[in-house]
Amino acid sequence: MKIKLSVQVTLAALATIAVALPVVSAQAAEVEVLHYWTSGGEAKSVAELKKMMEAKGINWKDFAVAGGGGENAMTALKARVIAGSAPTAAQIKGPSIQEWGKEGVLANIDAAATEGKWEANLPKVVSNVMKYQGHYVAAPVNVHRVNWLWINPEVLAKAGAKAPTNFVEFFDAADKIKKAGMIAVAHGGQPWQDATVFESVALGVGGADFYKKAIVQLDPASLTGPTMIKTFETLAKIKTYIDKDAAGRDWNLATAMIINGKAGMQFMGDWAKGEFTAAGKQPGKDYLCMPAPGTDKAFTFNIDSMTMFKVKSAEEQKSQLVLAGAIMSPEFQEVFNLNKGSIPARAGVSRAKFDSCAIKSMDDMDATSKNGGLVPSFAHGMAIDSAKAGAFQDVIAKFMNSSMTPQAAVLALAKAAKAK
Ligand code: GAL
Repeated sequence: MKIKLSVQVTLAALATIAVALPVVSAQAAEVEVLHYWTSGGEAKSVAELKKMMEAKGINWKDFAVAGGGGENAMTALKARVIAGSAPTAAQIKGPSIQEWGKEGVLANIDAAATEGKWEANLPKVVSNVMKYQGHYVAAPVNVHRVNWLWINPEVLAKAGAKAPTNFVEFFDAADKIKKAGMIAVAHGGQPWQDATVFESVALGVGGADFYKKAIVQLDPASLTGPTMIKTFETLAKIKTYIDKDAAGRDWNLATAMIINGKAGMQFMGDWAKGEFTAAGKQPGKDYLCMPAPGTDKAFTFNIDSMTMFKVKSAEEQKSQLVLAGAIMSPEFQEVFNLNKGSIPARAGVSRAKFDSCAIKSMDDMDATSKNGGLVPSFAHGMAIDSAKAGAFQDVIAKFMNSSMTPQAAVLALAKAAKAK
C-alpha cells in the first residue's frame, strides 16, 4: 500500500494494467473517477454521483476496480499516475492523501471549498484530512463507522441467544448459534477484513485509550503488553466460529449470509448496511446494528473522500471543481449516504430520511468527539501511514491463517510498527 511510485508497482503488474487502460486522460466536460464501489449497495451509491454530474452536463467516465477495501484500486491508480494519465479523482483517504500530496500530483480545489463554505460546514476531524499543506485537495463523501456488529435476529431467536454487548455475551451467543447448527460469525478471509475484525476486538478489549496508544501512537509497550495479547486471544477464539469456506470470500457475500439467515453475526463497517438496504431490509426488524462487543462508548471512523489529481486543461479543471462542489452538496450527501450506509460528512443535511442505525452513528460520533472515544480506523487507512498499515495487516492475516501464538503476534506487530 506504500506509494513510492517508482518501486512499489512491479513491471509485470504495470504492463497488464497498461494494456487494459486507456492512455488519454479525461476529456473536456468529463470526469474520470476511480473507485472500488462495486457491491450492490456501493454501486447504487456511486450511481447517484454519476447521475448528478450528468445532470450538470458533465460526462462520467467510470474507473471502477473491484476489491473491497480498495487494494486493487490503489495498484491500478499507481500505474495510471506513473503513466502520466491520472484520473480526475480517486477514492483515497486518510494519511494516504498526504502521501499522494508529497508526490506533487494533487490538484488544489480551494475554489470549490470557498464557494461551498467547506470550512464552516465540516468538522475539523474531517477537514484536516482533506487538506495538503493547508489547501483542499480532496472532498469528503461520508463518515463510515467501522465498529459495528451486524446481526440476524431470527438466527438469534432460533438459537435462543440474545444480542451481545460485550465479549462474554458474544461468545455465549456464538456458542448457541453454533449448537443450533448455523454459522455464528460470517467472515471473509481477506487481509483487510481480518484487520477490520482485529481493530474492533482491540477497541472492545482495551477501550479507546488503549486503541489510541497502541494503534495510533504505536507505543511499543502497548503493542506488546497484556491487553494486546488478550486482543489476539479473543481473535483466536472468534476464528473458531467462522466457517471453513471463509477464505477469500468477499465482504458483501459474508453480509449476504446474515441477510439470508445462514449466519448470525458479522463484524463490519456500515457499508454492510448498504447491502441490507439494497435487499429491502429494515433495521431493528430484519437486522440489528449493534456496536461491536464492548465498543458502545467508542467510534472508529473511516472517511471516504474523492482526492483530486492535477488535470491538464482549464475545461477539465472546471469539471473537477464541479465534481468537488457536487460531492459536498447537501443533496448528494443525503442520497449517497442513504444508500451507502454511512452518514454525511458535512453539517446541514436533514436527518429526516436516515434510519435508526444512521441516527445512532450520528449521535455516537457527536458524543465520542467530546469524550475521547472517537478513533481513526487503522484497517481503513485512517490511522497510520500505508507502509505501517500494510505491515500490520500482514501480521493479522498471518495470525488468522496459521497457528501463530498471540505472544508471537504481538512481537510481530511491534516490528511492523517500524515499517517504512
Ligand atoms: C472501505 C471503504 C468503504 C467500503 C469498504 C468495502 O475501505 O471506505 O467505502 O467501500 O471499504 O469496499
